[in-house]
Formats: sequence, structure tokens, C-alpha cells
Amino acid sequence: MTKLTAAITAVGKYLPEYILTNKELETMVETNDEWITSRTGIKERRILKEKNAGTSFMAIKAAEDLLQKSGVNPKEIDLVIVATATPDMPVASTAVFTASKIGATNAFAYDLQAACSSFLYGMSTAASYIESGRYKKVLLIGADKMSSIIDYTDRATCIIFGDGAGAVLFEPNNEGLGYQDQYLRSDGVGREFLKIDAGGSILPPSEETVKNKQHFVHQEGKTVFKFAVSNMADVSEKILERNNLTKDDVNWLAAHQANKRIIEATANRIGLENEKVMMNIHKYGNTTSATLPLLLSDYEKELKKGDNLIFAAFGGGFTWGAIYLKWAYNA
Ligand code: UT7
Repeated sequence: MTKLTAAITAVGKYLPEYILTNKELETMVETNDEWITSRTGIKERRILKEKNAGTSFMAIKAAEDLLQKSGVNPKEIDLVIVATATPDMPVASTAVFTASKIGATNAFAYDLQAACSSFLYGMSTAASYIESGRYKKVLLIGADKMSSIIDYTDRATCIIFGDGAGAVLFEPNNEGLGYQDQYLRSDGVGREFLKIDAGGSILPPSEETVKNKQHFVHQEGKTVFKFAVSNMADVSEKILERNNLTKDDVNWLAAHQANKRIIEATANRIGLENEKVMMNIHKYGNTTSATLPLLLSDYEKELKKGDNLIFAAFGGGFTWGAIYLKWAYNA
């Protein structure tokens, strides 16, 4: 009997209209286009400006884009997972609201949070449900409204992040395509270096925490950078080794878009040519949970059935890992 594999069968995306350029950031904080471009590779990012619109606004639009392109009936979806570090609210799941709004009335839904690795970990969860035979259609959405937790007077973070959402559908495949292997890691040593201090159960929000700007993301960029470079490269190398893949077997690297230099370091470690490295950080910055599905949407037309894709991510926590997946369709 052939093993049931979990394939990605459709993708969708949403990006807010407003473009925050490096030039505009120059008017907000002490920075310049040359510094941002050379240190991060980012030229512009999208910001969600709609009033009273949170992460679900973008998650719904990305899911609707997927449904419209694929013709999938939302009533057939079994499970909706929203990978996000910026849920609409701390209690009342963003995924549940999203599922109802897109008409996935037969699905159950929940959020999954692992900072910038949320989508990568979500792929593992979605694929496992399909491989076990329990469900036939799992919708995984990666969405973040990073502008809601960024201090736009802090040049160390405000130049990096952007808003956006991407969605993928996982379905069973009996040709051996789709999810092949994963190597996922985490280490609590990272908690100090990338976090939001207040608003959780340790330090509930108060006038004091707001005054001290403790409800914004704080990161020790240099430390996170060092961990990200070595760990993302390590897991990518490991997943190739474990699956007896050489660099020539790999068609694409889809790496979390946090910093162009981190992505290039990962590609260099596994000896991959530039043409095989998916890149859109210049357009969107770091959209946290949305980077990987946005790459898939942007590159969908170039992906061929049978292509070997390596996914890699690194994020707060620390959380990180790599996934090997065989692409299952020609767009
Ligand atoms: O996605 C989740 C995981 N997150 C990441 O992977 C982010 C990892 N970190 C990074 O990408 C980089 O560390 C940053 C892009 C955040 C910073 O780049 P860096 O090359 O590590 O810069 P740095 O923090 O070491 O700062 C170098 C210099 C400093 O000045 P001095 O002390 O050398 O005079 C900073 O004050 O650049 C200065 N600087 C800036 N200058 C202009 C810091 N931010 C800026 C800025 N514009 N926006």
C-alpha cells in the first residue's frame, strides 16, 4: 500500500495596499535607505491601514484568494489553522472567526503561535492530520499585522517588519508528492532576545507598561542574527543529508524572509545557486508568519510538479527548523 502523503494543492495571498518605503522611514527615525538595503535587503513593506481591521482581515482575504483560484468549496474544509504572532485579540481565536467568514462552516479552527516559525510548525501540524488519514482538506494560513506591535520610533525593529497574509491548502496525495520530512527545533534560551514584555500573564498591561513601551516587540538584533544564521543553515544542511539530497536535487529554497544576509548564508551553506533561492523580502520585509506562504504565491507559476523544495525558518523563542516537500502541481 502506498503511503498517504500531504501535498500543497493551492495557494493564496493578501497584501495591504499601503507601501511604507525606506524613504518614508527616513522621515520617521534616524536611518537611511542605504543602511536598510545593505543590512537587510528590504526596500519597502506593506502596512494595514484599514480602521478596526486586525490579522483576520488579511487572513480572510488570503483564504478567499485561494478559494477563488482553486474553486474549492469552503464547506469541504475540515480544519483551519491560522499561524500568527498577532491574533486579533488574546482570547477568541482568529482562526475561528476566519473560518466562519470564509464559509468553512464544517471546519474546526484554532491559532498556532511560534513567532516567525509559526507557519513552518503549522505545516507540520497540517501535514500530520492529512498523513494520518483523519482529514482531507486542511487550510493553513500565515498572517501577521506586525505594525500593531511595532514601535515606530525604534529604528532597530520598525525598518524590518511588515503586514501580510498567505494561505495554503493541504490535501492527500497518493503519488508520493508533498510533505517528505521535517527537522524542527526550539530552545528557550532565546526568550530574552526577542519578545514583547507586557500584555501576557507575567506582566499584564497597565498604564506603566504602556508608558514604558513594553507592549512593543523588542529584539537584540545582533544576537538573534547570530543564532538565526547558524541554526537555519544547520537544519537545512541536516534535512538534505537525512534525505540523501545533493544541492543539485534541490529546486528551491523557501526561507523565512527576516534578513537577506541570513537567507544567503543558508543558501551558501547548502551550496545553492541564487536562482534557486526564493526572495521577496525587498517588497514585503519580514511579515513573520506570512513569509513562507507569500513566497509560494509569488513563485507559484515557476514551480513544477515534482520539484524539491526546502523550507527553513528561524524565530523568537527560539524556534526554528527545516522541511522537505515535493511540489505537487503545475500552476
Ligand atoms: O524574524 C525573526 C528573527 N529576527 C531576525 O532574524 C532579525 C535578526 N537581526 C537582524 O536582521 C539584524 O541584526 C538587524 C537588521 C536587526 C540589525 O543589523 P546589524 O547589522 O546586526 O546592526 P547592529 O544592530 O549591529 O547595528 C550596527 C550599527 C549600530 O551603530 P554603531 O553602534 O555601530 O554606531 C546601530 O546603532 O547600525 C546602527 N543602526 C542603524 N543605523 C541606521 C541600527 N539600526 C539602524 C537603522 N538605521 N535602522
